[in-house]
Amino acid sequence: MSNRPVVWITRTLSDNTLSRARRDYEVIVDPADLPASADTIIEMSQKVDAIIPCHSEIFSADVVAQLDDRVRIIANHSVGVDHCDLDALKTKDIVVTNTPDVLSDATAEIAFLLLLGAARKAIEGDTLVRSGQWENWSPSFMVGQQVSGKRLGIVGMGKVGQVMAKRGRGFDMEVHYHNRRQLSPEEEQGAIFHESLSGLLPNCDYISLHCPATEQTKRLINSETLAQLPKGAILVNTARGALVDEAALLDAIESGHLSAAGLDCFEVEPGGNPALAKHQNIFTLPHIGSATFDTRDAMGFRALDNLDAFFSGKAPRDRLV
Ligand code: DGY
Repeated sequence: MSNRPVVWITRTLSDNTLSRARRDYEVIVDPADLPASADTIIEMSQKVDAIIPCHSEIFSADVVAQLDDRVRIIANHSVGVDHCDLDALKTKDIVVTNTPDVLSDATAEIAFLLLLGAARKAIEGDTLVRSGQWENWSPSFMVGQQVSGKRLGIVGMGKVGQVMAKRGRGFDMEVHYHNRRQLSPEEEQGAIFHESLSGLLPNCDYISLHCPATEQTKRLINSETLAQLPKGAILVNTARGALVDEAALLDAIESGHLSAAGLDCFEVEPGGNPALAKHQNIFTLPHIGSATFDTRDAMGFRALDNLDAFFSGKAPRDRLV
């Protein structure tokens, strides 16, 4: 019998990740590729030494309390860890890691796709051409918002936020940001720091969210904060659905206070929000910020690097708890 650690990989990761995992560990992976329920997580914890979950598996305090002591590490295949109750995992002495850095480019690419698509009416235009209803052209037809020369506000200037800022500079945008700490001048690259969110908001023609979902940031974008944006602003969210009060967003879109939005994340996932989806000036995607072949490999490898370190007695690079 093998004495290699047993690792449960909850979802179908990239082929390269699965090959490497199988090379080094006893791997359990369910080809059904569905989010694991609380009961499944608790049951599987009796059979494995480590879990590589995605954000689709919820480790609430209640679930964590029922985990078998056999599980010693949760090596997340995600940068976001709002699906994990870190305090409960700490109490249980379970190590938790994530996969920062490696998905910053891919996520900023999707954020920029949403920003451009929302600004330039991508959904409306695509629907028109695709449906065969494009019958006329005029200089007053489908006129959108210019991106170059405008102000891009970034909430959360971590790795993804910094790449987003760089992309914004590439489009000649003036970058403003709000973050827990002011970045160094090298990191800022000319971006203008605002100590508070309410200091940032009036300075945004576009606002892109790149902060984690925590108790403090939940519904950060709500009727009050939306009202502080200039009329006609555009909101982009590739971080977490929990950051936005979707009813308030809907009101802001319907009143015309926001001219458009681009959303890769929703309060309810999978599924999204049908009330938002009715509006062609809301460009929606199904939480695919990090979904590129390169990035999926990089995320899988980073999770495995963390496992390798842990099982060889070293400190995992991305240890959170
Ligand atoms: C992340 O890494 O947090 C992405 O949202 C995918 O899970």
